[in-house]
This record gives sequence, structure tokens and C-alpha cells, in this order.
Amino acid sequence: MLRLAVIGTHWISQDFVTAAHLTEKYQLTSVYSRKEATGKSFAAAFPEQAIVVYTDWQKFLKAPDIDVVYIASPNSLHFPQARDCLSHGKNVIVEKPAFVTAKEMQTIVELASQKHCFYFEAARHLHEPGFQKVKEILTPAPEILGARLSYAKYSSRYDAYLNGEEPNIFSAKFAGGALMDLGVYGLYCAVSWFGFPQNALYYPQKLASGVDGSGLAILRYPGFDVSLAVGKNYDSFQTSEIYTTTGTITLPTITGITAIDTYQRSSQRRTTLSIPLRQQGMYYEALHFATMMLAPEDPQLGAAYEELLALSIQVNQLLCQLRQSGQIILGPDKEQAR
Ligand SMILES: NC(=O)c1ccc[n+]([C@@H]2O[C@H](COP(=O)([O-])OP(=O)(O)OC[C@H]3O[C@@H](n4cnc5c(N)ncnc54)[C@H](OP(=O)(O)O)[C@@H]3O)[C@@H](O)[C@H]2O)c1
Repeated sequence: MLRLAVIGTHWISQDFVTAAHLTEKYQLTSVYSRKEATGKSFAAAFPEQAIVVYTDWQKFLKAPDIDVVYIASPNSLHFPQARDCLSHGKNVIVEKPAFVTAKEMQTIVELASQKHCFYFEAARHLHEPGFQKVKEILTPAPEILGARLSYAKYSSRYDAYLNGEEPNIFSAKFAGGALMDLGVYGLYCAVSWFGFPQNALYYPQKLASGVDGSGLAILRYPGFDVSLAVGKNYDSFQTSEIYTTTGTITLPTITGITAIDTYQRSSQRRTTLSIPLRQQGMYYEALHFATMMLAPEDPQLGAAYEELLALSIQVNQLLCQLRQSGQIILGPDKEQAR
């Protein structure tokens, strides 16, 4: 059983803990919050567990009964928090986008290796059956002619932004914005399904706060392009599509895939494959991470971990390249430049 701690007490942490408990491989022991009352109210949702609430960062780091920390704080805080946890020998599961700069990513990867700890980026869709099924369909790789990926959802926090506030997700200091938030899902799809692109450009629609409310990315591969539309200030109901020499694969969404529609040009037939998905979508990643952490000597699981790590590094590299092309400068970029 893995003794679990969480940082950040918003709904996503509650979802993760619920999913983690469903796997029967984790037990929530600790919560770190800036305020005792917030931590206690979070812990109250899990009354069957004995949970310690920490508001003192150093005491939290020294707590002996924590094997793994799930970090779901604003994006720019992921790095210092993950670094401190790893330095104290604790495995970390870091919400997407795990880190902002390539230097942050490199530091964490090196530290995790030095400390014999695991670092996982919580890109939940990667572990879902639908995502894996698309990967299977694309193996061995057919000749790809292009893809259009889309993920845009109006954020309830955009209303607050329009009212003159600066919620973390629309703040440059906290490394928010559409590409950093929803864009990560599409980049994981692209890198995982098609490889790392030759070239990548991002055309953001920037808000006055300096982050992108929406934008379009073009990823250029030898012989084809992948476009990615992202937005946090509009809702899109557009499907995503992959074009190959033999037909078209249509996905209703790129996360939580529950159906894959395939059109075969030679027969002009369309078939739809239904994919079952658990209601607690984070179950799959929680289980996958636990399996690896509980068998650190298993060579097959070790290879799977290395593959995940390589993917996380590549997605961070691509995010940096796209942000640079779109001239999106976030808090950690500025700190690093000092
Ligand atoms: N995988 C998914 O499906 C999914 C969905 C949503 C979000 N996420 C990711 O989860 C992370 C958190 O997102 P969120 O929307 O929950 O963020 P958030 O509401 O802005 O902040 C999350 C938590 O961090 C703490 N926090 C907030 N502002 C802070 C500050 N200024 N300084 C220190 N701590 C602060 C708060 O916990 P305390 O008050 O207890 O300290 C808060 O509950 C992001 O990386 C996001 O991308 C992932």
C-alpha cells in the first residue's frame, strides 16, 4: 500500500484520491494546504482515513509516512514543490503540465534518478483504454497524411478574468493559458501517436494578462501536418481526425475517448468501436503509477517508466518550442532569465 499525500485541495485532488483509493493501492495519509481549515475540509471527504493536515512546508517534507505526493497546485509551483519532495525521498505525481521550462524538467529528472524516486506527469488520457486503442490502430504506423486535433472548453474562471480578477489559470505568473492547460493533451497525442515534429509553431490569441485565451498550433512532420486548436474562452464540439492513405479515424474527443470511428476508403465503410471508460477517469493513471512504484525492480515496468519519462520530457520540450514561437513568457521563464 502506498501512503499518499496531496498538495492542492481543489476538486481535481479529490478526484485523484477517489480514483487512487479505487485501485486499492493507495491510502491517503496527508494533505498539505496553505490553510488548516481548507486542509481539514478536504480531509473530511475521506472520513474513513486518518489524515494529517500540514500547513508547515518543512514539517510536511519531513513527514515519515508519505511514499508519494500528488501535486495539483498552480502550474508554476509544481517545480519547487516536486524538487523539495524528491529531495526528501518522496515519489511525485505531478499534474499536467508538470513543468514550465526545460531546465526545470531536467533538474527534476536528474534529481528523481539520484534519489531513486519516481516522477510521473499526470497526463490522465495517456493511460485510458481509448488512447491506447488509437495507438494500437496506428501500430504498425500507416502512412499518415495529417491530423486535426481540437480541445477547447470555456473556463468558468474566464468570467472572473473578464471581471478584472486574475485567476491562476489566466495568470502568466502561475504559468496558465490555453496551451499550457488543454494544449498538453493534444501534444501528448501528437508525440505519442506520430513522434516528435520537425518544426512547431504556435499562433496564440493573447489576453492582456500575457497568457493565451486560445490559439492554433501547427506541428510539421515529414510529409504531413498536425494542427491543434485550443481554447479556454470558447467551447468546441469539433471532433478530432487522423488522415491516413487508407482512410480517416475520427475521435469525438482526445481525452476520455469512448468511441473510435474508422472510415475505410477502399470499401467506403464506416465502423464505430465503442470503448468502455470508468467514471473515475484518473483510475487508469493511478493504477499504472502504483504498479510501477510497487515493483521498482521489474524490468518490464522499468522500461514502461522510462518510456513515460521520455514522453514527458518531449512534451515539455515541444511546449517550450511552441511558447517561444508564440512569444508567451511565463513566471518561471522570467525567474530563470534573472
Ligand atoms: N488532469 C486533469 O484533468 C486536471 C483537471 C484540472 C486541473 N488539473 C491540473 O491541476 C493543477 C491545479 O489546477 P487547479 O485548477 O485546481 O488550480 P487552482 O485551483 O488554481 O489551485 C489548486 C490548489 O493549489 C493551491 N493554491 C492555489 N493558489 C495558490 C497560490 N497562490 N499559492 C500556493 N498554493 C495555491 C490551493 O490549495 P490550498 O488552498 O489548499 O493551498 C488550490 O486548491 C494544474 O496543474 C492543472 O493543470 C488537471
